[in-house]
This record gives sequence, structure tokens and C-alpha cells, in this order.
Amino acid sequence: MRKKVTVVGAGNVGATAAMRLAEKELADVVLVDILEDVPAGKALDLLEAAPIEKHDSAITGVSGDYSEASGSDIVIITAGIPRKPGMSRDDLLSTNMGIMKSVVKEIALVAPESILIIVSNPLDAMCHVALEASGFPKNRILGMAGVLDSARFRAFISMELNVSVENTHAFVLGGHGDTMVPLPRYSTVAGIPITELLSPEKIDALIKRTQNGGAEIVGLLKTGSAYYAPSSAAVEMAEAILKDKKKILPCAAYLEGEYGINKLFIGVPVKLGANGAEEIIEIRLSDEEEKALRHSADAVQGLVNDLKRLKG
Ligand code: APR
Repeated sequence: MRKKVTVVGAGNVGATAAMRLAEKELADVVLVDILEDVPAGKALDLLEAAPIEKHDSAITGVSGDYSEASGSDIVIITAGIPRKPGMSRDDLLSTNMGIMKSVVKEIALVAPESILIIVSNPLDAMCHVALEASGFPKNRILGMAGVLDSARFRAFISMELNVSVENTHAFVLGGHGDTMVPLPRYSTVAGIPITELLSPEKIDALIKRTQNGGAEIVGLLKTGSAYYAPSSAAVEMAEAILKDKKKILPCAAYLEGEYGINKLFIGVPVKLGANGAEEIIEIRLSDEEEKALRHSADAVQGLVNDLKRLKG
């Protein structure tokens, strides 16, 4: 039987994720948005590319009707609004919290066995909302951040050393924000740690560019945020789950004691398979790396506390 992936939010990230899922023929795809007609239009446009792209994935677009999502194996949630001028972080948090809650409640009704991949920002906080609103076990809620941040780091490493991106591997842990924790000791080119290939100053510059990766794109696009790499990252996670690959990727996962962090979503290496987050991999961190992860966890905890305050 064919797999089904629903993508909620047919905007830049959602529509591009739908395209990648279909073109890799990973599943039939349902695109859901609150906008009228737009998801149907994008789905039809994608379907009309199928004969050229040579895939037979079905793509359906619906407005506010979750019945099409019924029985989905995976739901990728990109619904939300970006921060607009004059909006405080609380405004964004509160609006996206409302959107995430309503979307997840609908999904829990029609696809109670699905695995959720959260993309909407602020990412780590939105994972908490999804966990609570769905009532799903923690292994079925994952946040997409680390794959994207690591891909950015890998792209910069490959440009710096003039080597294939395929030779690069990188781990970026922590929250999806300024406090993310790139780990140079675990970032390699053909198996060689970059600490043996680049000067500390160069590595520092690549880390800063990675931490600023989202803002760099926003600065160039002016009217929106990144979507090609974010959609690739979400689809890599979906593929690992759909194919039960047991692939270790950095994802936001709910920690209960691992890395000394309790009851918090944060980016760590996770083994992805048919059951979602099948194992949290605990790698040995230096004192400095541990301190950076703790600092990042504190920032995420601050947002989670804000969520509780906004809920009243
Ligand atoms: N239900 C369904 N869709 C919704 C809802 C809702 N309640 N509220 C908003 N949406 C839709 C919007 O109509 C829009 O089409 O979510 C879509 C968001 O798309 P974009 O504005 O293009 O944003 P995008 O660039 O795709 O980013 C989406 O991913 O990377 C994160 O920070 C980013 O939180 C943002 C999310």
C-alpha cells in the first residue's frame, strides 16, 4: 500500500516539501491550508509536472478540510505566520501556538497513528504545543531544525575546503536559534574532523555563519524566509521514517534526562525509523560543548515558560 504524507501549510516550505516528496515518489501527498483554492492550485500544478518528472505520486490540495489527511503516516506541519514589523515575540508565539494547537487537534482525530514533523517556528516551543495538543507519545513528535542547521554547516565546510558536499558530515545540536551548538569535533570531511583541517578562526567563522544562516537568507529575500533547504531537511526526516532506515539525524526530540535535560524538546542526534524517534543517541560532550547545550536548553525553557504564561 502507498504511504501518505500530509503537509499542513501550503506556503513556501510546505509546497516545496510536497514537491520533493512527490518527485522522490515517497508517498501520496495531501496539502492542507486555510487559504481558499491555493492548496488545490498548487497540488494541481505539481500533478501536471508529474509526467515530466516521471512520478506517480498523487497530490491533493484542500482548504481547511482534514478528512483527506485521514490515515496519514506522517504529517509535516509548516502552518504559521512569520514575525511582522511591530509584532513582539509574544505575539508570534501566541498566534503560532493557537495555529499549531488547532492543526494538531484536527490531525489527531483523522490520523491518530501519524508521526508529526514540526517545522513552524519558534520550533522547539511549537514541538511542546504539538506534544500536548496531540496526546501522542514522545517518539511520534519530532522537530526539524538540526538537519537544516547541519546542512548549512556542511555547505559552508564544502565551500571552504573545495570538496564534495557528499564528503561532509556535521552535527549541530541545541535549540533552533542563536544558541544552536555546532560541534566541530564531530563534523568531518571524509571522516577527518574539521578541527584537523581548518584553523580555529576559520571554524569559528563557519559556525557564526551557520548560526546566522536563517537570518542571512531573510536578509537577501526581504519578504520571507528560507524554504528550499528547510523543505529538503523535513523530507530527509520523512524519508528515514517512511523507509524505516534507522538513520541518525539531529532533530528536536523530547528529552527526559538524556544529556541531563528533562522534559524539554531540543536538538540531539536521533535514530529515525518506522516508529519515529526510536532512540536518542548520547554522544560524549566536552565541558564547553555541554555548557553551550545547557545554555541553549535554558533559552528553549524560557520560551516554554512564556507559552505557559500566555496560556494563563
Ligand atoms: N491551518 C493551515 N494553514 C495555515 C494556518 C492554519 N491554521 N495558518 C496559516 N496557515 C498557512 C498560511 O496560509 C500559509 O500558506 O501556513 C502557510 C505558511 O506559509 P508561508 O507564509 O509561505 O511560510 P513558510 O515560509 O512556508 O514558513 C512556514 O516554517 O520555517 C518555518 O519560520 C517558518 O514558521 C514558518 C513556517
